[in-house]
Order: sequence, then C-alpha cells, then structure tokens
Amino acid sequence: MKVLHTIAALREYRATLSGRVALVPTMGALHAGHVALMEMAGGHGSHVGVTIFVNPTQFGPREDFHKYPRPIEADLDKCERAGVDFVFNPSVEEMYPVNPHAERIHGPHGDFVKPGFRSQIEMPLSERHPHNIVIDLPSLTNVLEGVKRPGHFKGVCQVVAKLFNVCTPHAACFGQKDYQQLRVISAMVEALNWPIEIVECPTVREPDGLAMSSRNQYLSPEDRRRALSIVRALRAAEEELRNGFRQTIRLVTTAQRILLEQHLQIDYVATVDPHTFTPVPEVNGPTLMAIAARVGITRLIDNVVLRA
Ligand code: PAF
Repeated sequence: MKVLHTIAALREYRATLSGRVALVPTMGALHAGHVALMEMAGGHGSHVGVTIFVNPTQFGPREDFHKYPRPIEADLDKCERAGVDFVFNPSVEEMYPVNPHAERIHGPHGDFVKPGFRSQIEMPLSERHPHNIVIDLPSLTNVLEGVKRPGHFKGVCQVVAKLFNVCTPHAACFGQKDYQQLRVISAMVEALNWPIEIVECPTVREPDGLAMSSRNQYLSPEDRRRALSIVRALRAAEEELRNGFRQTIRLVTTAQRILLEQHLQIDYVATVDPHTFTPVPEVNGPTLMAIAARVGITRLIDNVVLRA
C-alpha cells in the first residue's frame, strides 16, 4: 500500500494507475463503517484509494477540530488489511497553503512563513486569499446540519472538490449516516459535471444499533447507553408508521419524547424530502427522518428513510 503526503507525489503515483479508481474520503479514526466503504469501493474500481485528512475548514470555531482523534498508524493498518492500494494523508498546509503574499523566511530546511502570520485555516473563509474557492449549494445546505453548523458544508465541498481534483477518481463512496453530506456532494458533482460516480453506502451499526461514528469514542459508558435512544427514536417512528400513523408531527413527537427521556439535548428531529430537504407533513413516499442531538458534550447524528 502506497502512502502519499503531497499532491505532487499523489499525482505522480496516480498517473501510473490504469483502470478505475474508487475513492473513500475520510477524516481518519477509521471504524467498521469506513472499512465497509472500502469494501464497497472495491466493487467500483480496480484500485481503491483512501484519503485521511481532518479538514479544518468544515469545523466551526467551537467544534472539536483540535481534539478530533488522529490514530494514523492504526488507520493505515486498517487500510492495509482492507486491501487499499493507496492512502493520501496530506498536511493542512499542503491542502491549504498560506497566503502566497505572506513574508517568508529562508531556513536551513527550506522556506517557512514568518511566525505570527495567520495561516489560512485560522481565517474566516471570506478573508482568505482569492484563490480559496467556495462552493455553495444553498438550497441543500441552509437546512438541518447547515443551520446548526454554519459554513460546515462550504468546508466539506471545498475539501472534497480538492480531493477529487487531485485523486481524479472514477467513483467515490460516502455513508448514508451523513445523509445531507452525501446529497450535497452528489449535487455538487452533478452541478459541476464531474464524471464521478457517487456510491451510497448503508449506515453501519454496532450490534446494539448505535450508528458507527468516529465521535462515539468520546462517549462515556453512561453516555453511550443514553446515545442508544437515537436509534430507538428512529425505530419507534418506523413502528408508528407501520401502525398507520403518517402525520410526521406525530412521528417527530414520539422520537423527541424518547430522546428527552434520556436527557439528550435535541438540535433537531426533522422529517424532510430526501432529495430536496423540504419539510414533509405526511409520509406518502420516501421521507428522511434525521436526528441531531447532544449526549453530554458529544454531538451525534443519525437518520432513517421512512417508507409508507
Ligand atoms: O465524512 C467525512 O469524513 C468528511 O466530511 C469528508 C467527506 C471526508 C470531508 O472532509
């Protein structure tokens, strides 16, 4: 397995690959859900690539960018065992070079930016240098996660676009747990006419139903038990629908009650059209029920597509 840290090295290696390349973009802290994405990627390309990059531009100022787990050796081991061909693991400066006009100092190991100069990643998107592109799909990002995490999807689109441009995959795999992200990326690819197949992978769950997430490792045993109320809430909504209750107000109320019983702090429980994200008052076709809630200090998301 090849591990590459720079765009130049990746491009050189990529040029040697013939056949289809399937990519799994990740932020590392890999778990069985990521391994499932790698396995699915194997069915969509003769070469599988994984990107491991904790992307600063998709985190808000009070979010967990600095504490996000980065177990790179264990991650590389998981990729190797999953039969991945290459891993792209760039630094933040490789992906977001500092302002080219910043004063540089010549040092024995090359040039570096004068200390004290604010790196691009510390600046709001609007203040960064003009080459910093922003891709926005407002109709899909001004709802749900986009409301609770302003700028999050601009950061996701920015990094995924860059990763697509440097890795030039034929297919890329994303999990349905981040349903809105999956939809935003599909729409971006469609809008920009990228010849990349976006492959949707079902959410992988722990045996007790908790959706796998790199953030689950923040949970204390007690919080982990309380976090199970998220999947219970989704299943209760499915059960009510099976019993003939189609009004989403009823399904949402049931889900909220289950979350509140475990003292979760609810960001949203929403029932929306899975394609447009517009609110759905009654389930008459596929309807996305999405939940975001905090268990202690850990924010978790999960969803299910309800079918009448
Ligand atoms: O889902 C993730 O891990 C990230 O949002 C992604 C798609 C790798 C972009 O940083």
